[in-house]
Amino acid sequence: MSTLNPDKVTKALETPFIREMAEITQHMWRNGWDERNGGNVSYLLDEEEVAKYLDIHQVIRVIEPAFPVHELAGKYFIVTGSGKYFKNVLQDPAGNLGVLRVTPDGSKLELLWGLENDAKPTSELPSHFMSHIERLKVDPDHRVVIHNHATHVLAMTFIHDLDEAKFTKTLWEMCTECIVVFPDGIGIIPWMVPGSSEIGRATAEKMKEYHSVIWPQHGIFGTGTTVDEAFGLIETIEKAAQIYMLVAHHEIKQRITERELSDLAAAFGVTPRPGILSL
Ligand code: 13P
Ligand code: ZN
Repeated sequence: MSTLNPDKVTKALETPFIREMAEITQHMWRNGWDERNGGNVSYLLDEEEVAKYLDIHQVIRVIEPAFPVHELAGKYFIVTGSGKYFKNVLQDPAGNLGVLRVTPDGSKLELLWGLENDAKPTSELPSHFMSHIERLKVDPDHRVVIHNHATHVLAMTFIHDLDEAKFTKTLWEMCTECIVVFPDGIGIIPWMVPGSSEIGRATAEKMKEYHSVIWPQHGIFGTGTTVDEAFGLIETIEKAAQIYMLVAHHEIKQRITERELSDLAAAFGVTPRPGILSL
């Protein structure tokens, strides 16, 4: 780790989007979801917001993405660095995070802040960028993609059928509020090698319909219009998966019925993904 200047760290943390990233990565690490360098976050920022805190005319270096991202031309992101430990972000934001701008032709990334000592953006940038592209098509307010290794979600992918409808229904049944938080359900892709454009494409394909996608035996992606929303979605899914792992080998004496799930959806004004409940 670079020699840390406490004033520099304090100043970085006065920037709201840097602080948010530092705090959310710390929360995830404390939850045990981001062992070693596990997990990554990307957050789409408004130019005006970035310009308030950073010199957007000062490009520190240019980074080649794995493929051009024309759809994101000119957009600003704060991202976690590859191989960086979430545990350390709060004490060294500039060493572990970076602010990037996609060039007007979408072919390069300009580093405007952070990723010190030649650090690279997360290796899962293909999945993040492709997911941003798809989520923005369905929701112009979309901003955040979070990936982590949520423990019980990961555990559940070993013992539960990976059919999306069955998996979603089980999660909805675990906590009363689940169907309200993710009425669109959960997308699941097959096991794939991480960090590749292929897993990025498969994840983004699911993002056309789902806010959250599970990578079996690896982790979860959650998206949202704010860091809180993306994090809260993963938290809720992880909590349901934890309940599942606690009750799975026990005799179930009572459960939330399909009728009750339908009543919940109606009471909270959400439409459950069709094909999951049989009512
Ligand atoms: P990075 O350190 O490159 O972000 O990778 C961590 C990870 O979780 C890979 O899936
Ligand atoms: Zn991962």
